[in-house]
Amino acid sequence: MYVLYTVLAGLAILPLFLHIIFPYFMRDLQFVVRCINFAIQIRKKPCYTILDSFLDKVKKHPEKPFIVFENTTYSYLDADKQSNKIGRSLMEFASLKEGDTAALFLGNEPIYVFLWLGLSKIGCKVALLNNNIRTKSLLHCFSCSGANVLIAATELRDAVEEVLPALQDQNISVFLLSAECDTVGIETLTDKISRASDEPLSPDLRSKITLKSPAIYIYTSGTTGLPKAALINHERMWMASFLQRLVGVTSDDVLYVCLPLYHSSAFLMGLTAGIERGLTIILRRKFSASQFWDDCRKYNVTVIQYIGELIRYLCNTPKKANDRNHKVRLALGNGIRADAWSEFLHRFGNVHIRECYGATEGNVGFINYMGKVGAIGRDIFLFRKLVPYALIKYDTEREEPVRDSRGFCSEVPRGEAGLFVGKITKTSPFVGYAKSNDQTEKKKLRDVFEKGDLYFNSGDLLKVDQDGFIYFQDRIGDTFRWKGENVATTEVTDIMILVDSIEEANVYGVMVPGHEGRIGMAALKLKDGHGFDGYDTYQCIKTNLPSYARPRFIRIQNSLVVTGTFKQIKGKLAKDGFNPAAIQDPLYILDETKGYIPMTQEMYNSIISGRIRL
Ligand SMILES: *[C@@H]1O[C@H](CO)[C@@H](O)[C@H](O)[C@H]1NC(C)=O
Ligand SMILES: *[C@@H]1O[C@H](CO)[C@@H](O)[C@H](O)[C@H]1NC(C)=O
Repeated sequence: MYVLYTVLAGLAILPLFLHIIFPYFMRDLQFVVRCINFAIQIRKKPCYTILDSFLDKVKKHPEKPFIVFENTTYSYLDADKQSNKIGRSLMEFASLKEGDTAALFLGNEPIYVFLWLGLSKIGCKVALLNNNIRTKSLLHCFSCSGANVLIAATELRDAVEEVLPALQDQNISVFLLSAECDTVGIETLTDKISRASDEPLSPDLRSKITLKSPAIYIYTSGTTGLPKAALINHERMWMASFLQRLVGVTSDDVLYVCLPLYHSSAFLMGLTAGIERGLTIILRRKFSASQFWDDCRKYNVTVIQYIGELIRYLCNTPKKANDRNHKVRLALGNGIRADAWSEFLHRFGNVHIRECYGATEGNVGFINYMGKVGAIGRDIFLFRKLVPYALIKYDTEREEPVRDSRGFCSEVPRGEAGLFVGKITKTSPFVGYAKSNDQTEKKKLRDVFEKGDLYFNSGDLLKVDQDGFIYFQDRIGDTFRWKGENVATTEVTDIMILVDSIEEANVYGVMVPGHEGRIGMAALKLKDGHGFDGYDTYQCIKTNLPSYARPRFIRIQNSLVVTGTFKQIKGKLAKDGFNPAAIQDPLYILDETKGYIPMTQEMYNSIISGRIRL
């Protein structure tokens, strides 16, 4: 790596590449050099963690605002002191020590950050529980982190009490962020923190921590089954935390964080990357489309974070005269679609969008540092050499990679979608999931190009265009097959929302007795004050989609079910099917001449009995 770096720095290979990929060459090169630089930097100091970076910022600018939350400002020094108090209380009352794990069960608020800092100071790992989960799922997530302490927000007391007997059976200490609590088996924490000393905690308390030590657990929701705890070690945390620097965020920037801290976008790309920059974070309990820009104006926000749905929600708000009146210059996130991207720029002005791609637990990621609309990054020869990856042929029907007669996979040609796999190497390791060897193994793909090689299976279909830009195509499972054709649900969704009355669409496939594959169905949320126009909707769909991709059934809902990070839930809807007797929502069926018409029980029966062929 050092050798390569020297070569790059000397630009010895510049002439060779210039004529091949001239338009993008310099920026690609700059990007790769920066990546290598970071990799070298962090490996130089094998014990320097994000916590150390935070402590350096405290020294450098103690009085600088670190977190602003609901009109209260916490400086870097405030956070330092508060986390000292927390670390001390937890050592004393929860007997936590280096190597132990504590689970956090709370929403976005400053103490979330102070708890993580405090626990890091005493060498503990932290499991970031999703505060929307309950009962079985909560117990599962808690247990797979191996934590022996649970710290919960006051407002989640009921949820904790539901699982308390099970926790007590395992001798788990349970703390509530409150000064009083009369439930037997739940201890208070707020009072203990306020009484504790804020004197610095000795680095000896975390002397065994290296970059390879586990730092946090982040839960990733699979399309099926219970969530998995992805293990993030300090090195991985650093890698993710370079993201802001990589796209040009500076310490003078003001970052707006409204996504949940229990996910990697807010925690790693937002919080820890923000600490690396030493900037000010405006923290919000929850995303609010109506408050978003007012907040940005009020706090002089310059950098925002997004996920695709957030951009869509912002574009769906009523237009205002002051839409472009803000200081936001950069948006960092993932999952934005090309149409929303263009609309966002058109409406809210010249914001540089830096779309990133990478799974929480994944070993290779991309950044679209060029701002090319719709792309997630660049396919660069040099980058591929450093962190090998490939797009391989995938059979969406059998849901597995295509293997040749010798049992090996092959790369798709440019312009074709393929399964994205990242080679598992020393420089791009896959750490896997806590307490789940099965799940970890399932994400590994062996013997891809030769006997004995090992790849991380992203589960995503990507495509590279002729200019080397990478595009997200689909998540596996987000396609279904109908009449021998693959239908990408995202593609259909993009068309459906072109219809004037439709605010959001969730497209999925449903099974029909006597038919192969799945037929398209869409759950729709209409814009306020709009009715559903079955004729208009069909005209738009007929114009834009091939017949096999047109949703045959439509279901109108008051709101679409989404996960904590606004990911649409398809599994349950697909299971619900299209039986009017079983579904309360208005149901429509496609009639080629009249468009979408209300669906009757008689029609349903005819389809099921095979009298109507679809
Ligand atoms: C729980 O703690 C008690 C008392 O410290 C001990 O006797 C018991 O064995 C522990 N149970 C488990 C499951 O660790
Ligand atoms: C935002 O910027 C304006 C103009 O530069 C300044 O007057 C104001 O105090 C700033 N507000 C905050 C919250 O920093």
